[in-house]
Amino acid sequence: MNSFIPISKPSITVKEIAYVTDAVSSTWISSLGKYIDRFEADFAAFCGTKYGVATSNGTVALHLALVTLGIGKDDEVIVPDLSFVATVNTVLQAGAVPVFVDIDPYNLCMDPRAVEKAITPRTRAIMPVHLYGHPADMNAINNIAAKHNLFVIEDAAEAHGATINGKKVGSWGVCGCFSFYGNKNITTGEGGMITTDDEALYHRLRYLRDHAMSKDKRYWHTECGYNYRMTNMQAALGCAQMERIDELMERKRQIFSSYTAHLKDIAGISLNRTYDWATHAYWLVCLEIESYNEVQRDAFIRRLKELGVDSRPYFYPMSAMPYLKQADTPVTHALSQKGVNLPTYFDLKEEEIKRICDAVKQSL
Ligand SMILES: Cc1ncc(COP(=O)(O)O)c(C=O)c1O
Repeated sequence: MNSFIPISKPSITVKEIAYVTDAVSSTWISSLGKYIDRFEADFAAFCGTKYGVATSNGTVALHLALVTLGIGKDDEVIVPDLSFVATVNTVLQAGAVPVFVDIDPYNLCMDPRAVEKAITPRTRAIMPVHLYGHPADMNAINNIAAKHNLFVIEDAAEAHGATINGKKVGSWGVCGCFSFYGNKNITTGEGGMITTDDEALYHRLRYLRDHAMSKDKRYWHTECGYNYRMTNMQAALGCAQMERIDELMERKRQIFSSYTAHLKDIAGISLNRTYDWATHAYWLVCLEIESYNEVQRDAFIRRLKELGVDSRPYFYPMSAMPYLKQADTPVTHALSQKGVNLPTYFDLKEEEIKRICDAVKQSL
């Protein structure tokens, strides 16, 4: 009997176990300790930024970035309609208004032409999402932001190591926000990071992350801050993953090329597309079935499950959520129904990829 193939699984080796054990044995188990500084420095260097600020998860990284930049009541933040809900909720939690724009069907990221049209006198920031591992068109987005004097906050939660013209995501905006949740390309269990080159922003992010406590006077606070810190135990896991990040990224590329080889002759489907100016981080393999609607797609997911393969539907349009404002985003609505993410984890074996692809062929 074949075992059930999950959608994702972290890669934990003796190195991760040794570092976490060391952190726990050292008794530095909260948010001070040698692994925190090291993880922040390693990750910032990897992204090509001067600074990294570790947080408890990727959601609070986004929220902290927004509030630290002073984005709040009545400000508008432009976000893509296709994303995970944290992108949008953090804008609301900051007291601002998310403005949804449609996606480019080729890379599933925000369409810069739609961004330009969505700008109003209240727009303060653009928050592109590098969806499923493909970078948004940061050259175009940064040009628009410069023209209108807007902040760019990259939601890079799904795209560690992806590049645009050789420059890593997280180094294009005023800051970049990452997630290290257990299903991400590197993990700390729960965790997040903000990358930036801006020294003043870096100091203020650290200050607000730690209850906005005065550096000179303990327990003295002149404004309302947050506890968004990462623990030394999480950072220990992160340091071990950073030592393996090239290997982990290479494995994701191999997995994608193996899927491509098995599925290349099937008409009416497509896998992740990559612009020639980008490198893909392949967080998740994306399968799109051109003729499908939501009902057919959900039935396909059920058939895969019966054959022992887990998968996920693409995200729903954020503007379709009952508590959010509807938007005119036809590309997002069309593609959201056609897409399925297939298992994309590091230890996936070649024969398992073949089994998944046979299940796909049988279920179509
Ligand atoms: C696009 C995007 N943004 C933000 C987040 C939030 O990250 P976290 O789950 O670490 O809070 C995720 C998470 O999975 C995500 O996919």
